[in-house]
Amino acid sequence: MNRLKHLGRVLRQPLLKRQTLRRLAEYHAQPRSLEEVVDWAMNFGGSGYMRVKTLQIRSEILALARAVQSIAPRIILEIGTASGGTALIWSYLASERVITCDLKDMTYQAPLFTRFPPPGSHCQVTLLTGDSHRADFKAQVERALGGARVDFLFIDGDHSEQGVTADYRDYKGFVRPGGLIAFHDIVEKQPLPGNEVFRLWQRLKPLAETEAFIDNPAQCGFGIGLMHVPAQGAPDLPD
Ligand SMILES: C[S@@+](CC[C@H](N)C(=O)[O-])C[C@H]1O[C@@H](n2cnc3c(N)ncnc32)[C@H](O)[C@@H]1O
Repeated sequence: MNRLKHLGRVLRQPLLKRQTLRRLAEYHAQPRSLEEVVDWAMNFGGSGYMRVKTLQIRSEILALARAVQSIAPRIILEIGTASGGTALIWSYLASERVITCDLKDMTYQAPLFTRFPPPGSHCQVTLLTGDSHRADFKAQVERALGGARVDFLFIDGDHSEQGVTADYRDYKGFVRPGGLIAFHDIVEKQPLPGNEVFRLWQRLKPLAETEAFIDNPAQCGFGIGLMHVPAQGAPDLPD
């Protein structure tokens, strides 16, 4: 982001923060169904650093959220926070912890994103900044987990074949047997040539029980792949 845009955002931050926290209070004002939470994640609104948004297809993210809800997750790990839309959903579902990671610094978003869990929830949201491919960043995630295993891992960061494969290899060991790992953008037809998640997805499908949530088989982009982690842990990828 250029400096002028950043400066504009910083100057507007106090006002935007007040407005967005009011919007969050509206979201928290009554108990929400999962369907409502997904709709809030897609249409929360806001602006600058105080914007909450997810770039997902509603039917796909709802199907994933239902699958995650069915395992009553305690801890969720996400690679790719962006504008916090999916983190809002995970914060509704996880009973103890959401750890969400991004290359981008989330200092300005932190006062908003860490307040996502609904009233009465004991879920804590931790925002980590860094490159998921770096060993020191993985060690930071490990420290944040403090030896606990994750129930659900959402991989939605680097979409290159090499990048998403590295994320799977590096973080799958944190997921408990019986847990879930999901990947975003698994359809082959993609708007950007660098989106190559489908290549990893094709390799993973034969290795474990999987489901694909794809709104329209002809669509360009999107699609969510879900792996059910077997009793012996998430499978290694053959070379
Ligand atoms: C598609 S967005 C995530 C969207 C979000 N999960 C949602 O649907 O609301 C991808 C994010 O991953 C981040 N990202 C890309 N490569 C990364 C990496 N190597 N480590 C950490 N984050 C990364 C980008 O900065 C971007 O914000």
